[in-house]
Amino acid sequence: MQQPTPIRNDVYWLGTPNPDLRVFDVVMRTPFGTSYNSYLIKDAKVAVIDIVKTGRWQQYEQSLRSLVDPSKIDYIVLQHTEPDHSGCLPEMLACAPNATVVGSRSAITLAEQICNCKFRSMAVKDGDEIDLGSRRLRFISAPFLHWPDTIFTYSPSDKILFTCDFLGAHFWNGNLGLSRSADHDASFRYYYDAIMSPFKPYVLQALDKIKSLEIDMVAPSHGPVLDHDIDEFVRRYYDWSKVAAERGTRSRKKVVVAECSAYGNTRLLGDALLDGLRSAGEFDIERFDLQSADPAAVVSALEAADGFLVGSPTFNRDAVSVVWGLLGIVPAVSFRGMPAAAYGSYGWSGEAVGNIEKRLEMLNFKVIQGGPRAMLVPSKEDLEKARQFGVTFAAVVGGGK
Ligand code: FEO
Repeated sequence: MQQPTPIRNDVYWLGTPNPDLRVFDVVMRTPFGTSYNSYLIKDAKVAVIDIVKTGRWQQYEQSLRSLVDPSKIDYIVLQHTEPDHSGCLPEMLACAPNATVVGSRSAITLAEQICNCKFRSMAVKDGDEIDLGSRRLRFISAPFLHWPDTIFTYSPSDKILFTCDFLGAHFWNGNLGLSRSADHDASFRYYYDAIMSPFKPYVLQALDKIKSLEIDMVAPSHGPVLDHDIDEFVRRYYDWSKVAAERGTRSRKKVVVAECSAYGNTRLLGDALLDGLRSAGEFDIERFDLQSADPAAVVSALEAADGFLVGSPTFNRDAVSVVWGLLGIVPAVSFRGMPAAAYGSYGWSGEAVGNIEKRLEMLNFKVIQGGPRAMLVPSKEDLEKARQFGVTFAAVVGGGK
């Protein structure tokens, strides 16, 4: 049994570490394992904050029962209902029949789908509180970090902020308290990049909401509690996210071009398109050759961009694989409404441009249809059409003369 660990008077960590985990939920490498953190507050009323993943109930239940008779639990706070924090809700409800499930409206809806049952619930809004006796818990709405359901829980008297995934890390070295290391720093960054990065505007909103709180400890639901250097970790989130606040505020609009050209013909079209763009206004243009560029660097550049152009030749009636490699990692939640277009040369059929346009639409870009295409070597007419398309694209992006 993993021993519960007190982190404050009457506040306990009830985690189930998994130091041997190497891949988390299909999507993340976890070279340092992880932990599923749950917290229990024993006051006049008893509250549990987050639960643990399906399959970890037996270990969790032993820890829980060593602290409290589960029938005495008054509140189960679900800060976020992804199954790594809520998977054991059915087992918990079975042994805590007197508990009220507390969460955002969407968390309650999602939790009902997890256990396929009805339960006593309390949907909370930003600023709502519950009284446990000697302390109150205040809920902070923090949607899209990284699901729509997310809330944080703040205990003013303990100066603890419970944050679920936010400010967490897949990292477990046996210590609940933070011991700084390069490995933890890298895990903290990787967790942000993989989980929070597509939601930068929401990260900034949440940071604004918590900036005036007195916080001695951040208690996330993965990895060590942050019991020192909190300002530094918060500042890192801000620094990594602030590009989202800057988008659209610069005097010059930025256009990112991601291009692959087999024989230089797609590149010629791109040159003409950009000539047209530049003729119509002042733009910062960042152009990537996808044969050598890191797709993650393209996505990073897009975060500060106002427009996106994708060039590809047609190969076997489709865009080439490096283009799909890029468009496979562009988050569908991050660039809604950003103007985008495709262009490319082809040998005999030329499906790449249309296929890319469809994918850009799926990713919620504002697609300017009918991007430049040319059979093999672009003619003067093809290049002039591409140039004109650049002028049109400039007008849509804005920032024209
Ligand atoms: Fe740790 Fe979004 O779940």
